[in-house]
Amino acid sequence: MIPSPDEKRLLYREAAAKLRALWSGEPDSIARMAAAACVFHEAMPHYFWTGFYRVVGGELVIGPYQGTAGCSRIRWGKGVCGTAWAAGETQVVPDVHAFPGHIACDSRSESEIVVPVRDLRGTVIAVFDVDSTEKGAFDEVDRAELEAILASFAKSPAVLG
Ligand code: SME
Repeated sequence: MIPSPDEKRLLYREAAAKLRALWSGEPDSIARMAAAACVFHEAMPHYFWTGFYRVVGGELVIGPYQGTAGCSRIRWGKGVCGTAWAAGETQVVPDVHAFPGHIACDSRSESEIVVPVRDLRGTVIAVFDVDSTEKGAFDEVDRAELEAILASFAKSPAVLG
């Protein structure tokens, strides 16, 4: 089920409040990713696979996620995730089959959004990847809300709390 734009905004607001509380007590980046994957996956009815790929040694390595088994490594510029990392920009893909080089970890995925996650200096340290089993599940509401929430990813507990 894909929520309406208003429903999405409400769900993101509630998820953001939960995440702020979890992140404000925890500076470790893996723990923050685990909290985000869990909170978003539980909250959002249109999410099928929800998780992070971390920049490690020049490629993306899978991090905390919820859903079916994900591919473990993705190279720079490859797939939707590698493209988001290389471009430093969110990728909203309404139909994954129309995206050249899309990497299919689960054949049920039909649409996808990938948002870069940055450290305080602005370097991309990870990407947040969400897949849906429905085409066109993600739009500008998802992009704006996720970018706003993930902009706080690297902030210190004191700033969040
Ligand atoms: N579809 C992604 C690969 C990761 S999975 O969706 C979990 C891509 O093309 O980069």
